[in-house]
Amino acid sequence: MFVNFRRLRKCQFVQLMTTCLVLSVVMICWEEVDNNIVSHIKSYSYRYLINNFTYVNKSLTIPREQARRFSNFRYLLDHPDKCTGEDVLLLLFVKSSPEDIERRNAIRSTWGNETYIQKTLGVTVKVVFALGASQTSKKKPAWSKRSGGGIQGQLIREDRLYADLIQQDFLDSFHNLTLKLIMQFHWMHSHCAHARFLMTADDDIFVHMPNLVSYLQDVSSRGITDFWIGRVHRGSPPVRSKHSKYYVPFEMYKWLAYPDYTAGAGYVVSGDVADKIYHVTLTLNASLHIDDVFMGICANAIGVSPQEHVYFSGEGKAPYHLCIYNEMMTSHGHVEDIYDLWKAATHPQVKQWSSGLMGGLYCRLVKISLLCKPYHFNTYPCKAAFL
Ligand SMILES: *[C@@H]1O[C@H](CO)[C@@H](O)[C@H](O)[C@H]1NC(C)=O
Ligand SMILES: *[C@@H]1O[C@H](CO)[C@@H](O)[C@H](O)[C@H]1NC(C)=O
Ligand SMILES: *[C@@H]1O[C@H](CO)[C@@H](O)[C@H](O)[C@H]1NC(C)=O
Ligand SMILES: *[C@@H]1O[C@H](CO)[C@@H](O)[C@H](O)[C@H]1NC(C)=O
Ligand SMILES: *[C@@H]1O[C@H](CO)[C@@H](O)[C@H](O)[C@H]1NC(C)=O
Repeated sequence: MFVNFRRLRKCQFVQLMTTCLVLSVVMICWEEVDNNIVSHIKSYSYRYLINNFTYVNKSLTIPREQARRFSNFRYLLDHPDKCTGEDVLLLLFVKSSPEDIERRNAIRSTWGNETYIQKTLGVTVKVVFALGASQTSKKKPAWSKRSGGGIQGQLIREDRLYADLIQQDFLDSFHNLTLKLIMQFHWMHSHCAHARFLMTADDDIFVHMPNLVSYLQDVSSRGITDFWIGRVHRGSPPVRSKHSKYYVPFEMYKWLAYPDYTAGAGYVVSGDVADKIYHVTLTLNASLHIDDVFMGICANAIGVSPQEHVYFSGEGKAPYHLCIYNEMMTSHGHVEDIYDLWKAATHPQVKQWSSGLMGGLYCRLVKISLLCKPYHFNTYPCKAAFL
């Protein structure tokens, strides 16, 4: 009896401890569960309201005199005649930072080589780099004749060589990306309004230019308007944790979800959309520093919503395989490998190997094995293998 009693107590003790353990694990994890799952569910349902209602637009509309401060920066480097007299299919802005000359050079000699594009694809694509002012050059005015050194001096020399830098006099920083976005639409409006498409991209992106060009030619020939394509984020909740670089306070954006938007890594809009976005930036409060979210807000205000293209990557990096090269549009996170990838992705064998009945079948199987792995989200979605 006594022994039994002790055993019982031991049992109860174990039970109690287990319960406590489980409870504390749940308590500890709850915050994370709440942040990630609940807020996504909430915001995903909420997005139906956001995308349809005009209160976001209303709450961020400000007088034009006040909106002007987001765009009236002086140009430090500019090429107003870049597009003049040419039939431009695509105006492509690469968001770059003053010190990232290596990345710009890599892009110039691979997918962003305008001469190559013109010669082999027979279309005009303008690739320009969008920059703010570098931190160091802000103190010593770079436009003064005396300053030949520093980062700004290097930029001026670089620009003499390639004539493809567009730079405004705001500090080039993560928190000023929205100013850079606005600059792109304003520059297009003033100097390249006849371009059929505008693309904006990060400088660590790989663009499969031949695939993109033929896709855009097709879209253009079908006369499609209100076109905005990329990797779509639907109903994303604003980050309310102060430690995140994406932190947005309630005063800046008070709703539970952002309007749908495309990942800033790379997306394309048609000329008509670009023009409307330009106009709406004249009346919106652009304090929200996350540029792709701000783009979503602008598009929401003009009634345009983004479309998903499975071969535009967001944060993701494409698997290296010729069956992927045959379809890819953009892939994110390429710096050192950009030369090799460009060579491999544009090799004539890519088309040979992946065409025909056997090639098609082979590539389908390869794509399923590459893209449809569980817990493997950081690339194109599985459904891309079946299209
Ligand atoms: C928005 O409202 C329209 C009709 O007012 C409806 O057809 C559409 O499905 C709604 N869209 C969303 C995302 O709720
Ligand atoms: C761009 O391509 C042209 C023609 O293919 C080539 O002559 C030129 O060297 C390339 N430019 C760069 C920066 O690699
Ligand atoms: C953005 O640029 C402006 C103008 O140069 C500067 O005053 C401001 O500090 C910058 N903001 C951030 C967050 O870097
Ligand atoms: C724009 O938004 C910021 C941040 O929410 C706010 O501080 C500022 O007062 C707003 N500007 C105007 C003109 O309403
Ligand atoms: C956004 O607000 C502006 C100014 O209040 C208004 O002219 C425009 O029609 C609004 N857009 C939508 C989609 O409601």
